[in-house]
Amino acid sequence: MSDAFENVKRLIAEIAAATPQSKDELEQFRIQYLGSKNVIKPLFGEIRNVPNEQKKEYGQLVNEAKESAERKFAELQETLEAASSDAGADLLDLTRPGEPLELGSRHPIATTLNRIVSIFQRMGFTVAEGPDIEDDWHNFTAMNTPEDHPARDMQDTFYLSGSTQLLLRTHTSPVQARVMTSQQPPIRIIAPGRVYRNETISARSHAQFHQVEGLYVDEGVSFADMKQTLMYFAQEMFGTPKIRLRPSYFPFTEPSAEMDVWIGMDNEKNYRLSKGTGWLEILGCGMVDPSVLTMCGIDPEKYSGFAFGMGIERQALRLYDIPDIRLFFENDVRFLKQFRSVI
Ligand code: PHE
Repeated sequence: MSDAFENVKRLIAEIAAATPQSKDELEQFRIQYLGSKNVIKPLFGEIRNVPNEQKKEYGQLVNEAKESAERKFAELQETLEAASSDAGADLLDLTRPGEPLELGSRHPIATTLNRIVSIFQRMGFTVAEGPDIEDDWHNFTAMNTPEDHPARDMQDTFYLSGSTQLLLRTHTSPVQARVMTSQQPPIRIIAPGRVYRNETISARSHAQFHQVEGLYVDEGVSFADMKQTLMYFAQEMFGTPKIRLRPSYFPFTEPSAEMDVWIGMDNEKNYRLSKGTGWLEILGCGMVDPSVLTMCGIDPEKYSGFAFGMGIERQALRLYDIPDIRLFFENDVRFLKQFRSVI
């Protein structure tokens, strides 16, 4: 009879000594001691062969074997799981959600520029470009700006140090000269770009800003063509064809005009922008001066044309209700982020 006790005791020792190292080994342990055909079950049956006075003690011993197997299994399960999650800590968890990628956004100047350019592209204008660092001839001379013109004054123009010929272009008009000296009419171009003026930086003006230049040269181009083109632009850009051309002066156009667009004053913003007039000044324009055509190698007897130039910043300020022009050049993401929804 002590055999039966010995068997159970051996089993208890075996259970205590078991050291499964992996989930598979633990599963083996479970099948062996706790599964439906486990080795403890038959020991309960052995109680038949145990003398009556020892039956109680034997039963308790077998129960103890069973309980020790259960306890051991729970313990092992816990330690194995803890170990496996420790090991996984420095592994890449492919199920973790990713870091969100910050979406960039277009600069409000770029969106305004693109909008203006695309309006003129729809009318058949193509984009032309010139360098930011210009020479005196393209920027001034070819634009019929006499030597003593105040625009040439050192106060307005950034010259490259030590040079009297190289400068940062003060307007996009030199692109007119670059196009006209390299091709004959018909010419229909739009030239967006950055320009520079030696000005005090404030909420309304900056030493660098953007312009879009337009030039149309062909046989029989008239002031009426210019007006119609600009009216269409106003309609597309501001939703109104109501424009006003005021006589003005530019050395490179004759006659010259400044164009205002009617934005009304039915709200505070438009009232403020138009300084209480309802009109917003948008661009300078005029018929290309015949002497400009001549200087660029185009026969003014045969051809005529119109040109216009407009600042972008002021239009962007209006479009997006931005209070200070300096915000455009500070590259503060908190500012730029606000234009994320704008294409
Ligand atoms: N270049 C002029 C300016 O900077 C604008 C302009 C362009 C006017 C073309 C007439 C024709 O103010």
